[in-house]
Amino acid sequence: MKTIFITGANRGLGLEFAKQYSAQGHNIIGTARSEETATTLKSLPNTQVIQLDVSSAESIAKLTEQVGDRAIDLLINNAGVADSSDAGLNADPELWVNAFKVNCIGIVKVAEILEPNLVKSSKAVAATIGSQAGCLSVYRDDSKLIYRTTKAAANAASVLLSWHFKPLNIPYVTLRPGPTKTDLAGPNAQFDVDDTVSKLIAVLENVTMEHTGLFLDRTGVVFPWLPEERWNVETVR
Ligand SMILES: NC(=O)c1ccc[n+]([C@@H]2O[C@H](COP(=O)([O-])OP(=O)(O)OC[C@H]3O[C@@H](n4cnc5c(N)ncnc54)[C@H](OP(=O)(O)O)[C@@H]3O)[C@@H](O)[C@H]2O)c1
Repeated sequence: MKTIFITGANRGLGLEFAKQYSAQGHNIIGTARSEETATTLKSLPNTQVIQLDVSSAESIAKLTEQVGDRAIDLLINNAGVADSSDAGLNADPELWVNAFKVNCIGIVKVAEILEPNLVKSSKAVAATIGSQAGCLSVYRDDSKLIYRTTKAAANAASVLLSWHFKPLNIPYVTLRPGPTKTDLAGPNAQFDVDDTVSKLIAVLENVTMEHTGLFLDRTGVVFPWLPEERWNVETVR
């Protein structure tokens, strides 16, 4: 039985991760910005709900006391925002900054504060729920500037987290759910939430240090996220 920490677990993909892992008998620590309204999450077996706003340093700081010295076997940095008003270059700077706090800074700060708990696990794994919106390889227009730039930053931050956690033998990966029917992607998205999450759980099951730093598709294969598939890093200084 694992202890699994999931941010943004009150709805969407986060709630489905909590449901499926709880049904498998694992212990869940699920976060919600509003504990009161997280009724489905609260009703799940083996589940503790913690109030967390990942855009707030004060809120993240409280995790130390709330989580205590428990071992965390799996961290899923899932919380994220996309704004329907997000167009192109006329993006609202305030919305942009907030999205950057949630989609990028939040994942780093949550990983940082939970590091002692991950280290306590004998086989910890950590992951960001990334997006193809953060992959420069798929851009064909200038739309969704806020979401795309902040998810690209999330990809970069996740690679840096993988280097941070490498000496601790903790793999850190980014996962691509694919367009999935949640509030964020809308009802016309390609995949159902239960299908997406069961596929991502299967991918996570097989993550080892060999995968650390990779951006893994829902099918488990590496998804290309740079304009050129691979640069020779030896020549880039
Ligand atoms: N659905 C897709 O097609 C898709 C595809 C690729 C990647 N993703 C990624 O998957 C993750 C989950 O998305 P989703 O589709 O499940 O979206 P969703 O249904 O809109 O859920 C987003 C979750 O993030 C939480 N959240 C937002 N701002 C937060 C903050 N400041 N602090 C803490 N939690 C916050 C929300 O909490 P509240 O209820 O309090 O707002 C909610 O629990 C995101 O990172 C998203 O970028 C989704």
